[in-house]
Formats: sequence, structure tokens, C-alpha cells
Amino acid sequence: MKKARVGVLISGRGSNMMALVEAAKAADCPADIVCVVSNRADAAGLAFAEANGIATQVIDHKAYASREAFDRALGDYLQSQQVDIVACAGFMRIITPALIRRFPGRMLNIHPSLLPAYKGLHTHERALADGATEHGCTVHLVTDELDDGPIVLQARVPVLPGDTADKLAARVLVEEHRIYPQALALVAERVKN
Ligand code: GRF
Repeated sequence: MKKARVGVLISGRGSNMMALVEAAKAADCPADIVCVVSNRADAAGLAFAEANGIATQVIDHKAYASREAFDRALGDYLQSQQVDIVACAGFMRIITPALIRRFPGRMLNIHPSLLPAYKGLHTHERALADGATEHGCTVHLVTDELDDGPIVLQARVPVLPGDTADKLAARVLVEEHRIYPQALALVAERVKN
């Protein structure tokens, strides 16, 4: 079975990356996670990737003079690994067209809100401050606009009485781990055919 080659970009904990890696272990999964790249050497997720026999690479954004130069280095590495699809998973850098244009329609991101609501940071705090009754997460294709681009999948959760940002984030994260592998499989099916 031909599988789409996927590179995952992380900056920290990497729990979404772990969900993608676990899902890709299924023989019938159309995605193969071939490398994990972090802009931070201390990203906790790197050890998990290594333990799972996945190539890891640290590309420190601070070593580059501009966002574009950093993105060129990312793109060069991902293409050296013959990556078909890039999955951003808690990757805390703004991505420029210098990288996006190298993976047109083949770059995914997970965002912890029901886009187009709450683009940017602190989504759970903002949803609570607004008195939102529901919240959730979105997997979307990456375009030149931050947290924009065609939606692949969304999942909703209720906002419950007594919720804190941490409680709400934990409820959303369960759904992130459920829909990101599904969304990646959908895109991988399209890309490999
Ligand atoms: C997730 O909530 C994701 O939606 C957001 O950053 C968080 C990353 O968590 N973009 P993890 O590194 O995948 O555990």
C-alpha cells in the first residue's frame, strides 16, 4: 500500500504528534510519519518520536535572520525527507509563503477553537471570557492567512459550569487527538492518489 509521507512540526509537548504517530501504526492508515521537526531543542515530543524510530530534526528559528530564511531551511529539510504532507502540531511559529508554497494544499494545522472564532493565542481563555456555551478544535489547510484556510474537520465540546481554561483545554485536547488523525488520513488519501 502506497502511503503519503508526512513530516510533523512541533514546538513542545507534542501530544497531537503522538496521536498522529499512533494512528499511523495501523496497516491501513494512508499516512506514514517519516520525520518530526522542532524549532526548539527542548521540545518534549522529540524523545517520543525517537523512541518510535522516527527521524527527528531540530531547526532553531533563532539561528536564522528572517522568518523566510527559517522557512526555507524547514522546507529544504522536509523535501530532503521526501515529505508529501506537512502537519503542524503545536508548532508555535508563523509560517510564511516561503514554506507554504512548497506544499500547496498539503500543509495542515490544528487549532484549539472552532474557527473562524478565536484565531491566534489564548483561545480557551477568550471563549470563557465571552461566555461561550460551546468550544472546540479545527484541523485546516494552511494558507498565507494565520489560522485560516479550508477546514478539514472540526469537533465541538460543551463549555461546562465551573470550567477553567485548563479544564476546557483538556476537554478540547481529547477531541484534537481524535480528529487530527482522521483529517490527516483524509488528506493523505487525496495526496497519494
Ligand atoms: C494544541 O492545543 C494545539 O491545538 C495548539 O497547541 C497545542 C499543542 O499541544 N496549536 P501538543 O504539543 O500537540 O500537545
